Amino acid sequence: MSATSGSPWTAPGARLLVTGGAGFIGSQFVRQILARSDGTRITVLDKLTYAGSEANLEPVRADAEQAGRLRFIKGDIADASVVEQLVADADAVVNFAAESHVDRSILDPEAFLVTGVIGVHVLLEACRRESERVSSGLRPSAQRFVQVSTDEVYGSVETGQSLETDALAPRSPYSAAKAAGELLAMSYHVTYGIDVVVTRGSNTYGPYQHPEKLIPLFVTNALQDLPLPLYGDGLQRRDWLHVADHAGAVEHVLRHGVAGEIYNAPAGIELPNREVVRRILEATDRPWSLVRTVEDRPGHDRRYAMDGSKIEALGWRASVGFDDGLARTVEWFRANEAWWRTARSGDWDAYYARQYGARLAESRATEAG
Ligand code: NAD
Ligand code: DAU
Repeated sequence: MSATSGSPWTAPGARLLVTGGAGFIGSQFVRQILARSDGTRITVLDKLTYAGSEANLEPVRADAEQAGRLRFIKGDIADASVVEQLVADADAVVNFAAESHVDRSILDPEAFLVTGVIGVHVLLEACRRESERVSSGLRPSAQRFVQVSTDEVYGSVETGQSLETDALAPRSPYSAAKAAGELLAMSYHVTYGIDVVVTRGSNTYGPYQHPEKLIPLFVTNALQDLPLPLYGDGLQRRDWLHVADHAGAVEHVLRHGVAGEIYNAPAGIELPNREVVRRILEATDRPWSLVRTVEDRPGHDRRYAMDGSKIEALGWRASVGFDDGLARTVEWFRANEAWWRTARSGDWDAYYARQYGARLAESRATEAG
């Protein structure tokens, strides 16, 4: 029997508040759950930063039955006046909202802290108020809070695989903010008895991913025959999790996770960046000569790798293979040029010049393999 069967967030007609639900993984979670037509109702609270877009929820809007179970609110998780009522109306809160790009955290860290720490705190305070209402008989049942975290909180893992019990050693402003957010969430479980679960997913890829990240950047650059800026020696290693699997892991922990527990969500597909790039070039039918070696990311984590035994014991494991997942992702980007051209507009050129201008000017050709 699952740890939380019979809870309101697993019952038919459950009301979920999904923060950051217009972003890459959050929107997949929303699309995936609403497409099942099991009566679940979702409110998305999203600030619509450069990374979020209501277009990511179009497939839901296109289906009247699903659209009827979605409410979209543009707003900030750090704004208590918006958050309080939305949390009060929910059976569970699933927090995807974050500034998510490591390179941008190196350029401008502050927004990462405001959303990743203060924003999480505001959500948790609203949950605390609701738990007091349960204690005083004003609310029938407790809520669950799911904090979507990352393997980056372990820092660079030279050998072996991180266990949930390992010490945290984040090394970028992004991962430090993520570590702070999940520590804060767990502190609300210990101190106030809030039902908190945390997921730590690995590097995610798939449709609707903002083109600032490695795979969509290199795919959309390759499709335009633009240079592919590979940081340092390109031998950094990541574990590649398809977005459908990541969203599935978060839902599995929402439904079956034990309160106060943390769950790694790995794919078990560890590859050096050079190999990922080689496969992108193969899938886009472009030559290796597009690849340029550029100055490395400061503090670049060499490797992430997690042990997945705990979530496997809970009944979840990743199912999408990398070649299949990448082929479908490239296909999606080929078919959705208008989507990625919009994502590569607005502040994109200024960001690209700041992040890559000098790097590409000083770049050199990269030996294949
Ligand atoms: P994303 O950048 O695509 O989406 C983030 C969403 O949050 C956007 O829609 C944005 O508008 C929204 N947002 C940002 N600040 C907000 C605020 N203050 N209030 C409300 N909404 C806000 O990110 P993603 O890749 O989908 O990541 C989602 C979550 O998963 C993040 O918490 C991230 O740390 C975590 N994660 C991501 C990966 C990955 O590889 N992408 C891996 C592990 C964990
Ligand atoms: O591991 C989980 C994390 O994965 C998430 O928590 C983050 O939100 C997500 O952005 C991602 O972080 P990374 O820094 O690993 O992802 P990114 O796509 O930025 O980079 C992947 C690897 O590719 C990394 O070693 C840096 C390298 N890279 C990236 C870019 C954007 C390049 O060599 N060149 C690039 O231009």
